[in-house]
Amino acid sequence: MIQIKDIKQAKNKAKISMLTAYSYPLARIIDKAGIDIILVGDSLANVVLGMDSTREVTMSDMLRHTQAVVRGVEHALVVGDMPYVAYQEDIKLAVENAKKFIQAGCAAVKVEWFEDCLEVVKLLRKENIQVMAHIGLTPQTVEKLGGFKTQGKDLETAKKLIDQALRLEKQGCFAIVLECVPDRVAGLITKKINAPTIGIGSGLYCDGQVLVTHDMLGIFDRYTPKFVKKYADLSNEILKAVTSFKDEVSNGVYPDKKHSFAISDEEFEKLQQEEG
Ligand code: KIV
Repeated sequence: MIQIKDIKQAKNKAKISMLTAYSYPLARIIDKAGIDIILVGDSLANVVLGMDSTREVTMSDMLRHTQAVVRGVEHALVVGDMPYVAYQEDIKLAVENAKKFIQAGCAAVKVEWFEDCLEVVKLLRKENIQVMAHIGLTPQTVEKLGGFKTQGKDLETAKKLIDQALRLEKQGCFAIVLECVPDRVAGLITKKINAPTIGIGSGLYCDGQVLVTHDMLGIFDRYTPKFVKKYADLSNEILKAVTSFKDEVSNGVYPDKKHSFAISDEEFEKLQQEEG
């Protein structure tokens, strides 16, 4: 089982891989592939529950899916993504909600940057809860960032990100996700902090990379950010399979003998004699 210390020690030695999972079967596959960290992301809202914003997802949605993921994982470090309602509406709820993720089997929780983020991290660390931070493009407060845009593209905003990363590390975060940060700015942040950085749309100079699994497998086809590389086109594969099923049902091809159960001739004859 991968531990927090393994992730910290990976810095400057090995690249860290992280993917999201929301269900038992996908968690099993991702774990089997040897991915280091599985994030039960609040992207659950968009890619599984069909919501428009990650702000809509509830603690009970997140916990239900976390429990399913944890059941499927033997090796990876599981991180639970704190939904907006768990800490941003009222920071006094943060500890109680983070503990629910830990009780569900997570090794840590992730929180997105917002004005009281450092205070939240402080409260969590005081309770010895491991925290991964998320800066740059933070979807829970996207309207304050002017929409889904690259963050840190000029001197002032890049310096703000560096400052956030340094302060989050000082407050005890074990890793920091950098979302949609220019590659060289992400590289500079990576050099300046000892905690590993995990990039999403932030280029090659981070200590690790994360993608939303439903994006990289091509399951979620409503929109695809520029940085997503599709490693499979499962939505087309699924469409092909489901269409074949429909055709075979319509044509009476499925189920054939191989996919049916039999009764012996002798027993069936007796049955027919009694029941016509
Ligand atoms: O919710 C999520 O999937 C995330 C990743 C994009 C890092 O926060």
